[in-house]
Amino acid sequence: MNVLVTGGAGYIGSHTCVELLESGYGVVVIDNLCNSNPKSLDRVRELTGKDFKFYEGDVRDGELLRKIFAENEIGCVIHFAGLKAVGESVAQPWRYYDNNLNSTLVLTKVMEEVGMKNLIFSSSATVYSGDNEMPLRETSKTGSCTNPYGWTKYMTEQILSGMAVADKEWGIVLLRYFNPIGAHISGRIGEDPRGIPNNLMPYITQVAVGRREKLSVFGDDYDTPDGTGVRDYIHVVDLAKGHVAAVKYVAAHSGCEVFNLGTGCGYSVLDMVRTFQEVNEVPVPYQIVDRRPGDLATCYADPAKSAEVLGWKAEKSLADMCRDSWRWQSQNPKGFGE
Ligand code: NAD
Ligand code: UFG
Repeated sequence: MNVLVTGGAGYIGSHTCVELLESGYGVVVIDNLCNSNPKSLDRVRELTGKDFKFYEGDVRDGELLRKIFAENEIGCVIHFAGLKAVGESVAQPWRYYDNNLNSTLVLTKVMEEVGMKNLIFSSSATVYSGDNEMPLRETSKTGSCTNPYGWTKYMTEQILSGMAVADKEWGIVLLRYFNPIGAHISGRIGEDPRGIPNNLMPYITQVAVGRREKLSVFGDDYDTPDGTGVRDYIHVVDLAKGHVAAVKYVAAHSGCEVFNLGTGCGYSVLDMVRTFQEVNEVPVPYQIVDRRPGDLATCYADPAKSAEVLGWKAEKSLADMCRDSWRWQSQNPKGFGE
């Protein structure tokens, strides 16, 4: 079966292409490269020894999507394509609503036209309200997002679940990712953020490789064991395997189901710095600064439903995540831009 992967040249998409190809699926990628480099796809081919088609273009281009469905027999779509920088979404809300909502609306319209109604969507733990008890279950309260990016994920979940109510032929899986980090064990693909990284792990690796002077730890006065923010970091290869499990699930089920993809373990910022330094034997200088607006003290998943229903569980440890992030960064100090 061929899986159409939107945003397949990106961080999570490229790792998912590897896992799909290694599980025997064919892959077709569409990506407009607005936040990625096509070298990632060459490296997916290199790692798997398998070829696949790449269409450079925008998911909001319905004509291109029709052409892709006409030229390929697609059995499932994984929709990664989207803009994802929280701060940028506050500065450019229209661009985020246009890209993230219209890509899904155009994609699902064309899927309906061609009668292919199996869809997996990249949602986020950001859809959960800030006042929930931990761990977060799929039934925990959602909404009251703090930025346009979060609202695009929340609204897309509403759109897709409404479509599945109206038309029983849709099989839709909403995957709520926690904090993906790490890289393929080969060090050949990984996260390659443009400009100053917003997220913790790419910032740590860029400090370790000498591209930045020191890490700013955003607050040490949270109500957590060491005062720094606690998150559920998940290895991107585990996350990618969760998508393969979702592809199998959606082929056999209709309706709309939501799953957390997390480990269920919370680690603090200082746990991350300590583990990274220990396993890689490389220093990560840091300073404590003020809290970052909008950050929660603690966020971690209850991944029980994914284990029970998808038969998927994250397997890699924090040490694996730190080791693999560093292998990617140290072998590719400038990312794919080398
Ligand atoms: P990424 O930016 O590396 O990948 C997204 C890809 O989509 C990029 O290659 C980009 O060029 C492409 N793209 C964006 N808009 C497009 C469009 N209109 N048409 C065609 N291609 C387009 O991001 P990622 O980390 O791999 O994230 C993948 C998905 O997972 C995103 O939807 C993101 O919001 C979601 N997500 C990511 C995280 C995270 O921490 N990385 C957490 C939760 C959810
Ligand atoms: N942090 C620092 N210094 C940094 C970057 C981050 O101390 O330079 C801290 C943050 O304060 C937080 C933790 O590290 O406590 C993790 O921060 P990230 O920015 O890596 O991740 P977030 O949990 O804030 O956000 C991520 C994604 C969002 C997504 C959210 C929930 O970036 O897109 O998870 O899924 F919405």
